[in-house]
Amino acid sequence: MDPGDVWDVLLVVFLVMFVWYYVRETWISGHGGKTPPGPPYIPVLTPIWTLWIFLRDGIWACTAAYSAKYGDFVRVWLGTEQTFIVSSPSAAAHVLKSSNYRSRFGDPSGLAQIGMQRSGVIFNNDVRSWKSFRFFFVKALYKEVLDRAAGVSAIATRRQLANIRDMASSNPDGAVDVVTLMRRITLEIGNRLFLGVNIENDLEVVDTINGYFAAWEFFMIRPTALQLVQPSLYRKHKKAVKALQDVVGKLVDKKRACMEGNEAEEEFSIPKGEHDFAAALIQAQENGQLSACCVRQSVTEMLVAGPDTMSVNIYFILLHIAEHGLEDGILREIREVVGDRDPTREDLNKMAFLDHVINESMRTRPVVTFVMRRAEEEDHVDGYVIPKGSNVIVNLVAVHQDPRNFPQPEKFDPDHFKEKVPSTQFMPFGLGLRSCVGRTIAPVQMKVVIITLLRMYQLRPSRDHQSLDVSRNLSEHPTEPGYMFLYPRVETNS
Ligand SMILES: *[C@@H]1O[C@H](CO)[C@@H](O)[C@H](O)[C@H]1NC(C)=O
Ligand SMILES: *[C@@H]1O[C@H](CO)[C@@H](O)[C@H](O)[C@H]1NC(C)=O
Repeated sequence: MDPGDVWDVLLVVFLVMFVWYYVRETWISGHGGKTPPGPPYIPVLTPIWTLWIFLRDGIWACTAAYSAKYGDFVRVWLGTEQTFIVSSPSAAAHVLKSSNYRSRFGDPSGLAQIGMQRSGVIFNNDVRSWKSFRFFFVKALYKEVLDRAAGVSAIATRRQLANIRDMASSNPDGAVDVVTLMRRITLEIGNRLFLGVNIENDLEVVDTINGYFAAWEFFMIRPTALQLVQPSLYRKHKKAVKALQDVVGKLVDKKRACMEGNEAEEEFSIPKGEHDFAAALIQAQENGQLSACCVRQSVTEMLVAGPDTMSVNIYFILLHIAEHGLEDGILREIREVVGDRDPTREDLNKMAFLDHVINESMRTRPVVTFVMRRAEEEDHVDGYVIPKGSNVIVNLVAVHQDPRNFPQPEKFDPDHFKEKVPSTQFMPFGLGLRSCVGRTIAPVQMKVVIITLLRMYQLRPSRDHQSLDVSRNLSEHPTEPGYMFLYPRVETNS
């Protein structure tokens, strides 16, 4: 072909795409839908352009920018995939509650890279296998375990707080990396509740978990072709995934040895007669229901859940407490409701002020800022058509800052929760079938960790959280250590 022919062919291709676009738009209008606002669609160019923007700025930063520019209902493209960004509480609740949507994060190949293709409950988007894994998680997060979680969280927090002096001395000004401290605490709580083995070097495990999160963002957001463009990054993230799988694999082996050896209970063991998540999975493997990989992946997800979103969440809450001078109010509530003992779950239910502070922190500074779904069938939301197979990004930040529900939405004010806020207006753990499986246990752990810490230490922020640098891809993670000053609390006889 000479160059002239090539141009002819390209021209024809472009014409065909324009006609296709025109027909599709007409078809959408013919279905009674109007076209939602959003960047103009130019075949080929828009998909490439918007995919580039999403990769460059991170999914969350892009989502926030498009919502701010175009409003409550926006149409964009993630590559070739038509994607709607919804921000109104009613549309968000509709999409999250409807069984017409399934999880959408990562392609099968990306999920396979991080061990979540048809495995585990976090991003697994194969509905059948997700249901079978969810069963194990739901059983392990049930009544008695919730009661036990309160006591275990206090024990683990106290044990880890003994490391504060070491952590502070590694820093010239004596500030403590609170995010790492929280990751160690929540890892220990997870271990004591769901696995029950002795983890020798918890800092190393926390590091490995951090490497795994970075790999999530890499493998789940980038199309496969773009992963291979940077082979050194690709290798680094692949190694990080394998490192965590090896670490957890060894812990599971340890557990299996404990189960076979009838060993005496030691410090971290799960008491006899209590529900034992890891043991139930290992049993299921022995009965031929689960593969070894799936057991390892489920234990991984249970162990990383705390060090992931919960740790960062507690850090944000502590920053709010310190900045807004809420320590005294919380301490007063602790004295009134709990006294000097460790808090029980009933105590926590009576601590309204702490509940409001935590909720207001999650409302104004959430860790999970958006949720992504894919439509299994065509749907109609707010007068727009969502065609089968398209994506929906639910902008949780916008939902939580809707001025119709929260006057002065940007202001931090625990009184926003003075009246119970309905779950259709405040959904930090999502809603419906795919909501966070840890939504009941997480507040128990967060509250006990905060109570135990505040009783022993005074907080001073070492920085203003508005200027925190966070990675805005999948969830908000500080990109630098989360420093704060923790001073031993001096007993006052009041
Ligand atoms: C605080 O949030 C939790 C969900 O995490 C909810 O169950 C609780 O009712 C909220 N409190 C108020 C006062 O709305
Ligand atoms: C997204 O995640 C990657 C990998 O962790 C990171 O290098 C990048 O800076 C993040 N992007 C943004 C905008 O935070």
